[in-house]
Amino acid sequence: MRDHAVAARDAVSQGDAGGHDGRHAVPTDFERLAERAVSRRVFLRGSAACGAAAFVLGAGAIGALPARAGGTGLAFTPVAANRLDTITLPEGVRWHVVARWGDPLWSDGAPFDHATRGTGASQERAFGDNNDGMALFSDGAHSVLAVNNEYTNLAIAFANRESGKPETEDDVRKCKAAHGVSIVEIARADGTWRIVQDSPYNRRITPDTPMQITGPARGHDMTKTAADPAGTTALGTWNNCGNGRTAWGTYLACEENFNGYFSSSDPDFALPDGFKRYGIREEDWGYGWAMTDERFDVSRHPNEPHRAGYVVEIDPLDPASTPRKLTALGRFKHENAEVTLAADGRVVVYLGDDERGEFLYRFVSDGVYAEGGDSAGLLESGTLSVARFADDGRGEWVALTPETTGMASEAEICIHTRQAASAVGATTMDRPEWVAVNPGKAEAYCCLTNNKNRGVKPNAGGDATPVGGPNPREKNKYGQIVRWAPEGGDHAAETFAWDLYVVAGNPTVHADARAGSANVTADNMFNSPDGLAFDSQGRLWIQTDGTYSNEGDFAGQGNNVMLVGDPASGEIRRFLVGPRECEVTGIAWSVDRTTLFVGIQHPGEKGDSHFPEGGDAAPRSAVVAITRDDGGVIG
Ligand code: FEO
Ligand code: CA
Ligand code: CA
Ligand code: CA
Repeated sequence: MRDHAVAARDAVSQGDAGGHDGRHAVPTDFERLAERAVSRRVFLRGSAACGAAAFVLGAGAIGALPARAGGTGLAFTPVAANRLDTITLPEGVRWHVVARWGDPLWSDGAPFDHATRGTGASQERAFGDNNDGMALFSDGAHSVLAVNNEYTNLAIAFANRESGKPETEDDVRKCKAAHGVSIVEIARADGTWRIVQDSPYNRRITPDTPMQITGPARGHDMTKTAADPAGTTALGTWNNCGNGRTAWGTYLACEENFNGYFSSSDPDFALPDGFKRYGIREEDWGYGWAMTDERFDVSRHPNEPHRAGYVVEIDPLDPASTPRKLTALGRFKHENAEVTLAADGRVVVYLGDDERGEFLYRFVSDGVYAEGGDSAGLLESGTLSVARFADDGRGEWVALTPETTGMASEAEICIHTRQAASAVGATTMDRPEWVAVNPGKAEAYCCLTNNKNRGVKPNAGGDATPVGGPNPREKNKYGQIVRWAPEGGDHAAETFAWDLYVVAGNPTVHADARAGSANVTADNMFNSPDGLAFDSQGRLWIQTDGTYSNEGDFAGQGNNVMLVGDPASGEIRRFLVGPRECEVTGIAWSVDRTTLFVGIQHPGEKGDSHFPEGGDAAPRSAVVAITRDDGGVIG
């Protein structure tokens, strides 16, 4: 049965590479695909060149995932998909809650109130909502988690309001305070991690926290507002999705859907041209912040949206530090910021723009990182480039400069980055989510989560979205993970070779390309890869933010999950199933790596979860700790 499905898949995947009509454009397409465009291991299960490796991926392969030399391995029996309202883990592994939405970070904070779901005052002293990317920092004695609080589910947070939205001034205060970043010391006692209330490290960063604007757009006319005529100081950060961490110990919080908070009080206000590309419109997404904060009224403050959509650098171990918006890393719907070093010590940051048909970016600093040296300005000046993928498995980074883009200045490129990337013909992608760099090899991976518009309509800038290259399926429902190896093993190189690590799908429903690549089976299938990180053993952890209907195209896939992949063999195993209607996002390890911290975001976003407390409790996003029963290392 398998062979039939695989043969059908291979046949269709050839068609994918060959063109829109599903037929070969030229006779060499299959060879090209086999050799370069898509990993041979992934698609060519029967070929003589790699058949042995490919068959290792079969469903019968049970045993420890191989670890890099010196590693401990992580032997586990994969868990089955399910629709339970709890976390499911392999035998020998357990979980507990560390921090939930509304948990007070200070002893003067009010405990979470399940009836009202908090007030402005209680939320300002508490862990934010919808935790996403996170990183753990240590001063040697204390463990400090920096956690993004991406957004709030209005119907859950304002279940006490008839409209299910913020209605009063205090509602808006609560809504804003649920966003931003929570910095919280945690400590383990009797095997359980808990918040250390009143720790001097505890801090809430919100949409009202003062920040410096750094980089090329600092002081540019487009960043100047009535409240900040110099264009150098902005208030706050919101919709912080994925994250990054630098070699010098700072945290990067990435502003994603920043647009949904702006609205216009003037029905005759003509939206500036640049707003459309970023989805800034007359109406917000129901948050109502302009009700109490005129910054969010674009008819009164049309430059305010130019001050959001950046990566924000935060020193998590200095509660008095001022966060810095890094305009040099571009303005778009930032997913995460994966930091690595070039061969010569320059800092390289990979950045995805998560919107249908938007792009994949890379920043390379002008300055060189030196351990213990002055790293303060490294992310303020450098070269921002965008990826162009060729169908033959090669790709290049195209620098965004006034010369290549025709734009007036570097500042303009850093503000209207999407338009700059369109100008150089960047490859429209299937929603780039997290990027992760392999610590054991010069290669990087990026989740392309899904794209119903692929091959159907252009992106918001009018760029075509043809089927092909790393985006091989029309109306892509399941997503894929692309990876690239920079030329010469140097992340600052101008060119790279790419392939697809996995093409997600459902082999129990489809026998064509929608079945996914050969390393997707009835036992590990998933959709919409999103979070992505390598552990110290070189294994790839994959988190999903997909459709959890468990029906139709998604039959048998259950709730969202976290999987573990072996980058060398391509084997993927399901490690965790999340509770109902959640997304699994955010990953970090304790200093001794015996605890894996994972984010459970928006359980019950459609009303069908009481995670984690159960009963009639409000569903609450949470960071959970995952440990082995034997206390061993877990990545
Ligand atoms: Fe907030 Fe693209 O995920
Ligand atoms: Ca995400
Ligand atoms: Ca997502
Ligand atoms: Ca999310």
